[in-house]
Amino acid sequence: MKTPANRTLLLCALSLYGCAQIGEPIDTYSDDELRSAFVSWGIQGLSSTSDDSEELVELGRILFFDRELSGPRNISCGDCHSPVAGTGDGLPLGFGAGAIGIGPERRGAIDILTPRNTTPLYNLGHDEVRSMFWDARITPDDARGTFFAPAPELMAYDDQDPERAYRPEIIATLDGVLAAQALFPLVTPPEMQGFPGQSELGDTIGDAGATWDLIVERLLGEPGIDEYRRLFAEAFPETHPEDFNIGHVGVAIAAFQRTSFSATDTPLDRFLRDGEDHALSAEAKEGAIIFLGRGRCAECHNGPHLSDFDFHSVAVPQFGIGAFGRGDDTGVNAFRSLTGQPTPGNEDYAFRTPPLRNVALTGPYFHNGAFQTLEDVIRHHNDIEDSLRNYSVEQVPELFWGAYADVRSQNEARLAAAPSWLRRGLRLTDHEIEVLEVFLREALTDPNSVDQTHLIPSEVPSGLPVEQPN
Ligand code: HEC
Ligand code: HEC
Repeated sequence: MKTPANRTLLLCALSLYGCAQIGEPIDTYSDDELRSAFVSWGIQGLSSTSDDSEELVELGRILFFDRELSGPRNISCGDCHSPVAGTGDGLPLGFGAGAIGIGPERRGAIDILTPRNTTPLYNLGHDEVRSMFWDARITPDDARGTFFAPAPELMAYDDQDPERAYRPEIIATLDGVLAAQALFPLVTPPEMQGFPGQSELGDTIGDAGATWDLIVERLLGEPGIDEYRRLFAEAFPETHPEDFNIGHVGVAIAAFQRTSFSATDTPLDRFLRDGEDHALSAEAKEGAIIFLGRGRCAECHNGPHLSDFDFHSVAVPQFGIGAFGRGDDTGVNAFRSLTGQPTPGNEDYAFRTPPLRNVALTGPYFHNGAFQTLEDVIRHHNDIEDSLRNYSVEQVPELFWGAYADVRSQNEARLAAAPSWLRRGLRLTDHEIEVLEVFLREALTDPNSVDQTHLIPSEVPSGLPVEQPN
């Protein structure tokens, strides 16, 4: 494996003018040299991977937008992950059950804000994507053929207690982490489950298996919904009607996401995969050179998705209630201790490096949406210490100002957890920041993802309303 140091050397060797120092003009690369530089970081063009049947994708699409899956029947996946806002909500933090509207106009009670920013859903069906959520709290447990997840139903131990809630038939149905993920908003009270007294689902808080069974009962039990009986039979022709479980709901929703939210036709993909030299503008190419070189972005944003899917602290200010409502979100470690996943090393305040395709469509940014524009995100990376200490909450909508917590001791810990070289500052020039922004915005946006409102169904089998774009 190449170390970052000899990658830099390779970049210098590839460049025509030697290795650029701070303030020097940006190197010029030939298109082939630029392609080689991307490849040296494992950054490649993607191709679509979905081979799901149309019937399965259609069932998933309908389930994704049907509020019948939520306890109080007032929220669907699509209410938070809307095609009108880059498969998110365009808000720093999301509003859960009971809120109204989609996209940045969505409003609800402040006490149902999600602890973290709504993640985008692009390219999550690819093999390299092996973890779900900002803190990767769902991953496959390859050794046991199960999952690490915040529910004992999906985890297996060698010393299996027969009284445990372990549900092997659900695990056997799930075809990967993306399908497993879809089961969790359903059993998160402020997201879709709702609270005790609101519905039969809200009355089973803490017993995920029971909640999941009740959802299957709503869709396919007595009386159930005939249209769903038909759609499930078409999507899973091999499955006996008695054998449906919540895993099938997850599998269908995952199929919809990986098919419809595939973003593999960005200018960068055309440049790298198809060898189209003109897919990238001159400015975007300049930005790419900074991304791979002086900006050191590719030290974390590398591989086919421009993410190492590893964990780092980049000293993002505290915003929102954070994991477990502690008001101090320590990232990957907070949940790993719960699910028994290995916690390699000191990863305080570390979050999963976000993949970057379609990043121009998916603001606000970071695990808590504290930054509103790509330029501000780059400026933050450029000088994390200055940006953290001088963070201005005024960049987010006023409604969210109260979510900001400026606690000195926590901020020191965030900085201490960041790589020391990042803390020293990248010292990028305004021009370098500008072209980096062009690279992120132009080169990484798939034109097919820009308007996907056609995916929103006008009606769903439950007859519940589906929020339509304005
Ligand atoms: C209340 C708003 C809300 C609803 C409803 C919701 N989500 Fe999410 N979703 C979020 C937030 C917030 C996160 C990030 C949470 C975190 O990382 O801790 C997220 C994360 C995800 C991820 C992880 C993506 C990644 O890159 O790791 C997927 C996939 C996802 N949601 C799919 C769904 C599906 C499918 C449904 C419906 C079953 C759904 N969501 C319902 C807000 C919501
Ligand atoms: C030390 C690893 C590291 C380096 C170097 C790095 N990033 Fe990041 N980046 C991250 C992590 C981790 C996050 C998420 C942090 C969080 O939410 O707390 C992130 C977030 C982002 C985001 C926000 C994406 C989103 O969906 O919210 C963008 C854009 C981004 N980085 C671009 C860059 C650019 C451009 C550079 C180079 C100037 C760079 N990064 C350098 C690790 C890194």
